[in-house]
Amino acid sequence: MFRLRRYRYYVFFAAIVVFLLYRVAQNSEQWETVSASFPHRAPPSSSKSPSTSKSGTNGANSQAQTRFTGFSSEEDDLPQRILDHASKDNAPVKVPDLKNIQQANDDDFDPPPKSNTAVKEAGVLAYDHDEAAKATTAPVINVPDKNVGQGAKDSDDQPVKPGAHWEKTPEHFPVPESEIIPLPAGKPKKIPTIQYAFEKETPEAREKREARQQQVKAEMERGWAGYWQYARGHDELTPVSKKFRDPFCGWAATLVDSLDTLWIMGMEDEFKAALVEVEKIDFSVGKRAEIPVFETTIRYLGGLIAAYDVSGGKSGGYGILLEKAIELAEILMGVFDTPNRMPVLYYNWKPQYASKPKRAASNAGVAELGSLAMEFTRLAQITKENKYYDAVARITDAFYEWQERGTSLSGIFPEHVDATGCNRTAQNELEAAQNAAEIEAYGETDIVKRSGKSTPNIKKQKNPKTGEVELVVGESSLPECVSQGLTSGGWGAEQYSMGGSQDSTYEYFPKQWLLLGGLEPKYKELHLKVSEAVKKWLLFRPMVPDDRDILFSAKVTTHGEPEIDAKTQYEVTHLTCFVGGMFGMGGKIFEVPADVEIGEKLTEGCVWAYESTATGIMPEGAHVLPCPDAKDCHWNQTLYEQALDPSWEHRDEQIQKYYDQKAKAKAAKEREREMEREREEEESAQDPAWATSRTGQPKKPTLGERPSRGSQVDDDGARVQKRAAVPGIGDLEDDLIERDPITGIKKAKFSTAGAEDAEDSDPAPGFKKSTISQVPLHEDEDTEKDPLRPLSHEEYVANRIANEKLPAGFVDVNSKAYILRPEAIESVWYMYRITGDKKWQDKGWKMFESIVQHTATEIGSSAIDNVLTTKTTQLNEMESFWTAETLKYFYLLYSEPNLISLDSWVLNTEAHPFKRPKAPFGV
Ligand SMILES: *[C@@H]1O[C@H](CO)[C@@H](O)[C@H](O)[C@H]1NC(C)=O
Ligand SMILES: *[C@@H]1O[C@H](CO)[C@@H](O)[C@H](O)[C@H]1NC(C)=O
Repeated sequence: MFRLRRYRYYVFFAAIVVFLLYRVAQNSEQWETVSASFPHRAPPSSSKSPSTSKSGTNGANSQAQTRFTGFSSEEDDLPQRILDHASKDNAPVKVPDLKNIQQANDDDFDPPPKSNTAVKEAGVLAYDHDEAAKATTAPVINVPDKNVGQGAKDSDDQPVKPGAHWEKTPEHFPVPESEIIPLPAGKPKKIPTIQYAFEKETPEAREKREARQQQVKAEMERGWAGYWQYARGHDELTPVSKKFRDPFCGWAATLVDSLDTLWIMGMEDEFKAALVEVEKIDFSVGKRAEIPVFETTIRYLGGLIAAYDVSGGKSGGYGILLEKAIELAEILMGVFDTPNRMPVLYYNWKPQYASKPKRAASNAGVAELGSLAMEFTRLAQITKENKYYDAVARITDAFYEWQERGTSLSGIFPEHVDATGCNRTAQNELEAAQNAAEIEAYGETDIVKRSGKSTPNIKKQKNPKTGEVELVVGESSLPECVSQGLTSGGWGAEQYSMGGSQDSTYEYFPKQWLLLGGLEPKYKELHLKVSEAVKKWLLFRPMVPDDRDILFSAKVTTHGEPEIDAKTQYEVTHLTCFVGGMFGMGGKIFEVPADVEIGEKLTEGCVWAYESTATGIMPEGAHVLPCPDAKDCHWNQTLYEQALDPSWEHRDEQIQKYYDQKAKAKAAKEREREMEREREEEESAQDPAWATSRTGQPKKPTLGERPSRGSQVDDDGARVQKRAAVPGIGDLEDDLIERDPITGIKKAKFSTAGAEDAEDSDPAPGFKKSTISQVPLHEDEDTEKDPLRPLSHEEYVANRIANEKLPAGFVDVNSKAYILRPEAIESVWYMYRITGDKKWQDKGWKMFESIVQHTATEIGSSAIDNVLTTKTTQLNEMESFWTAETLKYFYLLYSEPNLISLDSWVLNTEAHPFKRPKAPFGV
């Protein structure tokens, strides 16, 4: 379940790692000779997938088998891959050249930053025709691309003209009535049951279950009361400071998102009181300049529709819920008004923008694009308005066509999607010919200020109805475009995973199939191909201390030839935990028992991650070590420690070099002293009056006098000293020493006052200065300039584990927070309902107790910054998914199994249950 703003922690930690690398690089310059010989990256060959040779002989299918059922084919490659992976994600001991590292990472994973022109170009979208005329490339009109993590930020707010409201305007690219895709007709198909056939429970079991359920409800009651008292009508409660925030347009996100939870938990009074607030929401005016379409759809639209469904629909008598859903949907329908009907995902709702023609983004997140389907489909079913279904069916068709056409990892889609529908390559090819034709037709002089395609007021456009190219005058047109389907968007390598910003598109394929009563076979095909691809490329078994048989889903990066260049990050992220439930349910409805088993193992993976930490809560993001052989996987401490210290092979070498250098330096120093003594003796022989000062200190050179050798060294030394660690640190008291958590380098503790020196330069804008620094304690001239002794492999590993508080099995924890996310308990709940095994209730209970222990506040629950320590800090954030999803899943885990039965309901990615159509002969 992808949540835009939930992803920012990755960004934050990535920034910190880059900053630390920078600091390490500074400190490493001192010993260039040593560090230069110290490789920080594995040889490039390490990334080569061993399956290349296999695929030639065995074909894709058997390769898929090998990939998933056993990793033996990769065994030889493993240490290299470990090196490669770990050196990317952990700062190595010595970093010879910062630039190389950044470059390497950029090449591998990060798109290059947009150039100014690119940003400007995006700004062109703001329909500034002067700017458009200046732009030299890319005629595509586009909304500014948004990156993951910006979804819920308030910072992109622009001043909203007081009184501005969204207004309905005529569509620029309407779908002709006859071409509207209708909901699939016919009787819903009989679909295999998802839920286990639960037996009647014993009175004892019932008592235990209900006691747990009441505790879950108590959490909801406290959080809801807190929201009601301190944040009613606003998006979120700040659960520590007792205030509120409005990151989702200020339409009372928590309130709308939690309506169905209130109903399900039997909090009917609260539900009814909340409806009064719902009535007050004005979706035509928002506190943000742009509506984040995905978040708004899954939380608000999904929340309203589900509340309508669970409270009885039409006969329930809460028609206001449907009214509000339609009101919001009508606004959101504006986002589909593009030439290819792909949605604009950040919708500038103000009339002066909303009324203009636009295209979808060239860099859309795949999850945002693909996760509107259920909400609009359910609304179409309830209202019998096919236009809502048409809007999302076109996106599905585009994904379906793309899956058929093929992506780099056949079956799944890259994280960034070009949804513009414009083939720039083909466009450029056509350009010259078109220019010539235009000049011929209208004469050179008639084309005002021609600058390629950016001529502001005269444009040629293909009429979507007739297919004819027409000349359109005025700003109601877009630059012409050679059409194409969805393609990979963004820059650089493509990333494939089931994690944040990709997840819910995949989640929705089987769920849509259910919602449509099995009448649209495309969703089944889409899902089965996804499932195959995930098994082939992404699933892996990690090596964990008790040899538990668990699975995780990795992230693969490729430049388009995965058999050769695929790079795998063995990540463990909370967002990906939904995938256990997806496999479990998909396996049931499409009758693939192996997938149910995979779902269980994936869910067990997240349970393991919860159990591993000091708080009993899984971190946002981490990496683990894959088993060389998934079928025969045993914990190997040596291998684990090598993964923690990618440079382990070079440590002894480095220590030896250190001692050699030290010996040399000592000898040189002695020679120097000797020479100094000799010269002083000479000088005093010539001029005994200057031999010594009265205090016995060596004399200071007078003005114009050549400085002595000694002071010259000190001048150079001043440069060294600033970045040097404390000389002779071994002599300091232990409590004056700490180790850099990343590099393992010992350093003296110091008060930050000393760190503000110029050379200890400012961090990148927006970052706090690190409290980790390596400024020496003393800067007096006598200080020795020895660098620190490098750590041995054992010391380094012990150090990392202690400083990073790494739980056994984790190679790193790059995002330590827990922000009240639901995905793990979601899958546990699916597993319980699918298998009927009470062990899932017990596993869930441990999770619940841990979460409550660390996140509960007086008036609600708060995100925490670090799950690896029991002294964690509450972050004062309570996202609406806490009450909408997390607590709902916990509650349903301890409810009777027919409450929101998976055979009657299907839940959207925000845990909002929609009613499934009834099969003709029941299920
Ligand atoms: C874009 O156009 C080029 C050149 O005409 C063509 O080779 C390519 O297949 C097109 N891409 C898509 C996705 O249609
Ligand atoms: C553990 O891993 C190391 C390093 O790869 C290897 O040399 C050793 O044989 C392994 N131990 C066992 C018991 O498999």
